[in-house]
Amino acid sequence: MTAQNPSARDRFLGLLRASVADGTLVKLTLGKHRGTDPTLQNLFVRPVTLKAGPHLSLVWHHATRDITKNHSPAEALALLEPLIGADFLDAHLFTPAQTIQLADTPGGAARLSVKTAATAPAPPPAGHDREKSHLIAADAPWLHALGVTNAQGRPREGQAAKFRQINKFAELFTHLLSDAGLDAETHSSASSLRVVDAGCGKGYLTFAISALLGERATVHGIEARPELVALCNEVAAGHGFAPRLTFTAGTIEETSLESVDALIALHACDTATDDALAKGIAAGAQLIVVAPCCQKELRAQLTAPPVLTGPLRHGIFQERQAEFVTDALRAELLEWCGYRTKVLEFISTEHTAKNLMIAAVKVRPPGDAADARRVRQLAAFYGIHTQRLASHLGLKLDPA
Ligand SMILES: C[S@@+](CC[C@H](N)C(=O)[O-])C[C@H]1O[C@@H](n2cnc3c(N)ncnc32)[C@H](O)[C@@H]1O
Repeated sequence: MTAQNPSARDRFLGLLRASVADGTLVKLTLGKHRGTDPTLQNLFVRPVTLKAGPHLSLVWHHATRDITKNHSPAEALALLEPLIGADFLDAHLFTPAQTIQLADTPGGAARLSVKTAATAPAPPPAGHDREKSHLIAADAPWLHALGVTNAQGRPREGQAAKFRQINKFAELFTHLLSDAGLDAETHSSASSLRVVDAGCGKGYLTFAISALLGERATVHGIEARPELVALCNEVAAGHGFAPRLTFTAGTIEETSLESVDALIALHACDTATDDALAKGIAAGAQLIVVAPCCQKELRAQLTAPPVLTGPLRHGIFQERQAEFVTDALRAELLEWCGYRTKVLEFISTEHTAKNLMIAAVKVRPPGDAADARRVRQLAAFYGIHTQRLASHLGLKLDPA
């Protein structure tokens, strides 16, 4: 079906508004850029569901970087409408039933063409896998640069779990920010939020946080492996994240942090988690989120009450016990430091066995004597004399 100007552009805009209003917009792509910025090439638009409700995510694709911004539907339409058929001569609107193209013709008149059903993209799947429910869209160019997705914006083979994990984290972190009073509605400070990712590895979650918070936050990754830091800084610079997202090489313990609003450390091995917790506490972080792993430090010290000697001849029970005691002590120490602490499952064990998360929000002054007593009683029960976080915090476990 085709229709000629003068109604082609207006009809396209009418269909775009309708698809946004009734939730059938799958995506909008604008190409053939003829506007004033010579570096701008395309604009990709897709729906996303944020805590504040449905939004449209606009990815401005430039020659050397991408800039992503989320807008309310009304704001996004007000921004997009003047560009369609003017700055961008080609526009594709995808809905489950149709692909509608507005394109200029050699004679200069815009033409509308509609392809139905068979050639239109499949409708978004129902439930939580709907593409639009992902806070971090699979076609985010930085995910491709970090090797999670392919050039078509789909998770690469073997990376689907990583993609789900990134989104699960983004979802959880959004809720935790709001618990900690650091969401945009509650925390309207003129200065931006300072977020640190300690032991950030290849930076998947560091990028995700920066993408989620945009200009609201400066995000900093600390990583011991300099080659990963170089890669992350290169991707950040090439995709419009720098300077609000930066990475430095070094150990968590040796990196000095000034004041921080939120600190995360996911799967920072063994006592690196304690170093991260201590840094976050010292930097006054309102929110601290860690997912510990490889809890080896206490294994040699652990003694069990006689009734547990039998079961603990099994190595796996010893290992689980060391994990439990280590993380329970960390959670109790955080309480002593004035944090309300939650221990939760980060992601199903189907994706990773390292799935325990400790989330702590600062709610009161530190140093409560009853909290210190609880820490010491727990340590004494398991025969623990020293533990790295307790040492960082200056709390003697066996004061005798
Ligand atoms: C298992 S990876 C996790 C990466 C990232 N946090 C994530 O969840 O995707 C752990 C990373 O922490 C880094 N790391 C471990 N101990 C560290 C320390 N003491 N200081 C800085 N980085 C550390 C390692 O080099 C590694 O890249």
